[in-house]
Amino acid sequence: MAKKILVTGGTGYIGSHTVVELQQAGYEVIIVDNLSNSNAEVIEGITHISGIRPKFEKLDCTDLPAMKALFKRHQGIEGIIHFAASKAVGESVHKPLMYYRNNIVSLLNLLQLMPENKVKGIVFSSSCTVYGEPDNNPIDENAPIKPATSPYGNTKQINEEIILDYVHSGADIKSIILRYFNPIGSHPSAEIGELPLGVPQNLVPYITQTGIGIRKELSVFGDDYNTPDGSCIRDFINVVDLAKAHVIAIARMLEDKSDEKVEIFNLGTGNGVSVLELIKVFEKVSGKPLNYKIVGRREGDIEQIWANPDHANNVLGWKAVETIEDTMASAWKWQQRLRQKGIM
Ligand code: NAD
Ligand code: WQD
Repeated sequence: MAKKILVTGGTGYIGSHTVVELQQAGYEVIIVDNLSNSNAEVIEGITHISGIRPKFEKLDCTDLPAMKALFKRHQGIEGIIHFAASKAVGESVHKPLMYYRNNIVSLLNLLQLMPENKVKGIVFSSSCTVYGEPDNNPIDENAPIKPATSPYGNTKQINEEIILDYVHSGADIKSIILRYFNPIGSHPSAEIGELPLGVPQNLVPYITQTGIGIRKELSVFGDDYNTPDGSCIRDFINVVDLAKAHVIAIARMLEDKSDEKVEIFNLGTGNGVSVLELIKVFEKVSGKPLNYKIVGRREGDIEQIWANPDHANNVLGWKAVETIEDTMASAWKWQQRLRQKGIM
């Protein structure tokens, strides 16, 4: 019988791509999402790709009675992938309590309910933001955690600590903490993708929205950094590659492939790409020049960070395989699909 996996935040950007990969790997998926940053129509996209409609529960993970009832309705959930969180760094500075409540209480509820419902493992969405500005690149999992520069980043650090403390207290669960670098792109079918509400804060949706004419021009935040072309460097990881790592992580916990109760993995490509290089890739794959200007630095930006993904490559047997060109082409195809559908 198919193993049941609860995916919180499963109608969101990374969650929806992961649901597809889980279904294609033979898992039965139950999505919980409160639709605070996504749309129920995403379910249709998932169903088109995989041919399987995931079960969907519109619920808030911070609502403990509702989450208790969910586990009663869906007996036999073996694993959880926990994406549900608020994720806008800037907003978190203005609404810290909302971020702490949403991101921390959601995890606390799941951890509390896991042993009593015999859920074996939880995959947690963490972020390279926990490393702050690295002393050296590429950065591996043993690098120091730097003081968080936003309430959002702090919720990721606190949640990692909560998981470690709970497991070390003897709780009968396993966890895999995945630190994502910069997820970009879309499913190649363009049936699902990233759907930012309002003005995008992240680079790639801003590029594609500028490319299609929703935004007049992209502001490049700084060309005076200590990098080869002066712009910041990131490790842009294809969202489908990223999604596939979650399937491996779930199987690893449910099949007891490791004796470790908590494991931490960087998920990145291992390649640093600058903002200006990424713009050139977009221009190449879209065949159109991008309207951009160089402006001042954005407060709080990291100069350069990219992953050492050896641990995930060697231990999980996972590797990012998509090229940056194909990844940017998928982001562009998705933006064009949104236009065709009249969404943007
Ligand atoms: P997203 O906003 O697209 O998806 C998150 C989903 O969770 C949304 O559908 C939202 O409606 C839902 N949600 C939020 N709070 C909820 C709650 N209390 N109960 C139920 N549902 C709730 O974000 P994403 O980019 O897919 O990110 C997924 C996870 O990965 C988040 O935890 C995020 O912090 C983390 N992450 C994202 C990035 C990135 O750049 N996208 C990088 C590192 C880590
Ligand atoms: C990338 C680069 C910008 C927009 C954020 C979060 C981090 C993590 C990933 C979740 C930077 C530049 C951007 C624009 C630009 N998320 N840029 N013009 O800053 O690496 O990280 O997302 O955990 O926590 O902080 O991603 O896409 O915002 O920026 O020049 O309009 O693009 O300065 O150098 P970032 P990003």
